[in-house]
Amino acid sequence: MKILAIETSCDETSAAIIEASPKDKKVKLLSNVVSSSLELHSKTGGIIPEVAAREQVKYIIPVIKQALIESNLYPQASNINFQSSTLYRPDIDAIAVTVGPGLIGSLLVGVETAKTLAYLWRKPVIPINHLLGHIYANFISVMVNGKWQMANILFPAISLIVSGGHTDLVLMKKHNDFEWLGGTRDDAAGEAFDKIGRLLNLPYPGGPAIEKLSERGDVNRFTFPRPMFGSKDFDFSFSGLKAAVWREVNKLNKVRFLTGPRVTADICASVQKSIIEVLVKKTLKATKQYKAKSILLGGGVAANNKLRKQFEFKIKNSKLKIQFFAPAKNLCTDNAAMIGAYAAFNYKPQDPKTITANPELYFDNLI
Ligand code: KG4
Ligand code: ZN
Repeated sequence: MKILAIETSCDETSAAIIEASPKDKKVKLLSNVVSSSLELHSKTGGIIPEVAAREQVKYIIPVIKQALIESNLYPQASNINFQSSTLYRPDIDAIAVTVGPGLIGSLLVGVETAKTLAYLWRKPVIPINHLLGHIYANFISVMVNGKWQMANILFPAISLIVSGGHTDLVLMKKHNDFEWLGGTRDDAAGEAFDKIGRLLNLPYPGGPAIEKLSERGDVNRFTFPRPMFGSKDFDFSFSGLKAAVWREVNKLNKVRFLTGPRVTADICASVQKSIIEVLVKKTLKATKQYKAKSILLGGGVAANNKLRKQFEFKIKNSKLKIQFFAPAKNLCTDNAAMIGAYAAFNYKPQDPKTITANPELYFDNLI
């Protein structure tokens, strides 16, 4: 079974082809093309939704075409143009598309393109929740010594989704059986990285920039708050941390002390440490409480090396028998491969006419 997956929920335009066999449940990645308008947003210090959607309108067809070419599903020799011809129908079984959550203009580009191609090619559409897609990036098989291998993920699993828009802890009892445990009450972890990056005049997105500068920073120079560190629930809050950094930067500016890269690097390292400590502590608490056998990371912040290392370190030093999984870094940030992976494990094709974009989609109305 082959699935064309499409992801356009934020600023990325991505298409992937995955091949899944219902028998061994392996999800093989045949192609995964990601085009990002990050450079444009870098200049404006954040995403302007209208700009993102306009870029996506431009790139969606070339990106899908490229994904088909890279998986040998597009006849390169002929001049068939799949936008205007019904002659070309790729050898796929379904089209999976992110329907939410996300920016409405961006989601519409992917959803309406998926529906149009489905109508033209007479294929069903599988609507996908972007957040569950992030979890399923962990279920994409990897090539080891010329063979596809799936990670041996044992249930129950605790999943930490840490992206630009979300910070959620989810209990996964088995495939397609999720329970939301808690989430951020204000800013998401990625959003905190981005907003603090902006305070420090770093390029957007703040996460990778702060990670890079942290390498030469002193984690003990500043002590920033660890929001909701000891709270009994599984909720998070990061806006207080942002406010604390803002106060510190103002203070340093007043005494003309914030003179250069050294101080900025120290702030970055201290901020990164605060965020990581809260994420790791709450995730391990959930793991113990629900006797989980695996931890699954997902979302852009999961690409952070220090976060991954800290999880490995804490698990190793605990007496817990937990396996830790994090997707390859290019599968942490937004991509269509993860959307295809979830579709393979949750194969519920629908009539394209019944599918609409839903920016508010969350865990209470799971797809
Ligand atoms: O999952 P994602 O690509 O998009 C959303 O669904 O939001 O996540 C993007 C977020 C941004 O906030 C970005 O700053 C953060 O992920 N991010 C990182 C790193 N790479 C991306 N945060 C910390 N360290 C990183 N290396
Ligand atoms: Zn995402």
